[in-house]
Amino acid sequence: MDLPELTEARAPHVTDRFPARRERFLEELERFLAAPGLRIREPQKLCRRPPHAAPGSRGVARGQALFNTLPIAITDVSGINDDFNVKTVMGTCTTCHDTPHAGNHSVPTPLDIGVADPPVAHAAGGDGVHNRFGLPVADMPVYVLRRNGTVDDLKLVTDPGRALITGKWKDVGRFKGPILRALAGRAPYFHNGSAASLLDVVNFYDARFALGLTPQQKLDLVAFLRTL
Ligand code: HEC
Repeated sequence: MDLPELTEARAPHVTDRFPARRERFLEELERFLAAPGLRIREPQKLCRRPPHAAPGSRGVARGQALFNTLPIAITDVSGINDDFNVKTVMGTCTTCHDTPHAGNHSVPTPLDIGVADPPVAHAAGGDGVHNRFGLPVADMPVYVLRRNGTVDDLKLVTDPGRALITGKWKDVGRFKGPILRALAGRAPYFHNGSAASLLDVVNFYDARFALGLTPQQKLDLVAFLRTL
């Protein structure tokens, strides 16, 4: 379609000061609008829903519900199960990410959820790259730490964690629960960046706590985490 050109359209404020130009602009505008076949698009509405939540934001709400209520049997977490001497604590994501509007752990209790676990060697049935919860950690050092006064009380970790600060054996491999705000803008995740994406984070938790999440539930959790 051959449309007349709007020469002054880009600077209407200038035309205010020059009446002749203004006249010409308005004439052009009239011709432009009268052109056959011209269709003016509806002005686009500003939409605050983030694009990743499309085609509906229900996934975010479902993900939020999972984050708040999906039962997680917390076992073998150093800092919870050993310190309180309970084999299993029934909780949710919010047991450890419990600060309202921030998502970090509200108490200074570093935990070992297995992120610093070393790769599983071929001899042990692994691929030498991923740890037992599926995080790729082959490019990290493995520290073999021996408890003072013992011969074979050993811990293997890719990062001694809190123990570097306190010097305590029980703090080996423990890390604080971080703030979860603005996650979408700062991949990779965990203290060592071993989760490249939020889906990798969710897959880690699925493996670590045997959650049995469906593919849809994983996407919903990711959709929710992306909005924080
Ligand atoms: C038993 C406590 C615990 C539970 C339960 C838990 N988290 Fe975490 N979370 C942690 C700790 C501790 C870290 C830090 C680990 C690290 O970096 O070594 C963490 C880290 C994260 C991170 C990475 C943040 C960053 O900035 O790198 C995300 C995302 C996250 N958790 C989401 C979740 C979701 C989703 C759930 C529920 C499916 C969940 N967490 C359940 C303790 C927990």
